[in-house]
Amino acid sequence: MPLLAFETSCDETSAAVVHDGRVLSSVVSSQIRLHSEYGGVVPELAAREHLRNLIPVATTALAEAHTSTDQLDAVAATRGPGLPNALLMGLKSAQAMAFTLRKPFLGIHHHEAHLYSPWISGKPPVADFSAFEPNLSLIVSGGHTMLVHVQSELNHKLLGSTVDDAAGECFDKTGKLIGLPYPAGPEIDRLAEQGNPKAFDFPRPMMNDAGDDFSFSGLKTSVRYFLRDNPALLENPQQIKDLCASVQAAIVDVLVKKTVKAAKRLRLGCVTASGGVTCNRALRRELLTACQANNLKLRLAEKELCTDNAAMVGILAERKLHHGVHAGSLAEEILPNWPLDEAFSQEAV
Ligand code: KG4
Ligand code: ZN
Repeated sequence: MPLLAFETSCDETSAAVVHDGRVLSSVVSSQIRLHSEYGGVVPELAAREHLRNLIPVATTALAEAHTSTDQLDAVAATRGPGLPNALLMGLKSAQAMAFTLRKPFLGIHHHEAHLYSPWISGKPPVADFSAFEPNLSLIVSGGHTMLVHVQSELNHKLLGSTVDDAAGECFDKTGKLIGLPYPAGPEIDRLAEQGNPKAFDFPRPMMNDAGDDFSFSGLKTSVRYFLRDNPALLENPQQIKDLCASVQAAIVDVLVKKTVKAAKRLRLGCVTASGGVTCNRALRRELLTACQANNLKLRLAEKELCTDNAAMVGILAERKLHHGVHAGSLAEEILPNWPLDEAFSQEAV
């Protein structure tokens, strides 16, 4: 029987129905336009939008899956980490639904769900865990940049994360300096395709450090100083494209080198990647080239599943039930700062 999942950790209201590894529907209502005029996500506006969108999004997800609430087997929602009031909307709605339907409820860790999105592929999307193998997973978005060692299904260890800005934040803040609208990542990606990535030399912070942490705020600052010293550059369309390509190359270089280095050090044969920045074409290309050169398999989340979505939440919830993880309590509260390693599923080991 199917499972209905919700994701409301940031600015996407999403609901999905999954059944036996198949994604029967995945509906995402993005709030990007709403937040764009403020240059970033406004938490209170996000929570209000979730409240407004949750029922229509869930109704559409059920209709597209040709199912109804009385046919559901379980309900799941993102419990954390994320914006507190945004999480609250999805979690409490899901718990209320599970209570009314007398069905099991699962509170899911947002980053743990990202770890499984690269295993979902095809049209219609299906999660293929028969091919699962230990892997090094890069989660890279506007809110997070992390490297995770996924030792087996539901068993993972956080290796490193950003000590300041996330990579997506670096794209967005750099774009703001150039005058691009929020979120600037997709536009930088587009402009960079016609630019020269070697035109300007920007730092690659922490790229050669022994550890697995990242830092991107220094790169953003160096773009700020570069533009202060070269203001005329912003009048020249080709130089803007070169700037976008050069900044993007610095971000991609760090992400790719650190990911591959960690995978080799741990003697893993597989790399996976997810999160909004994984939509970036240069990152996808460079990861592929580096993985091929190092004899590593690569699984990139499909573009629709890179950004936040409830399908990955549903697939992980179903996987947890499959491995015998007990359903959560309906009194579970949100965990806005939930550390990834605490989402480790003891019952499944
Ligand atoms: O996963 P996501 O939708 O939300 C969270 O931040 O959790 O990721 C959004 C981030 C934004 O920073 C956006 O600029 C970035 O992903 N992004 C991209 C691209 N598409 C989205 N960055 C670079 N290139 C892209 N094509
Ligand atoms: Zn995310």
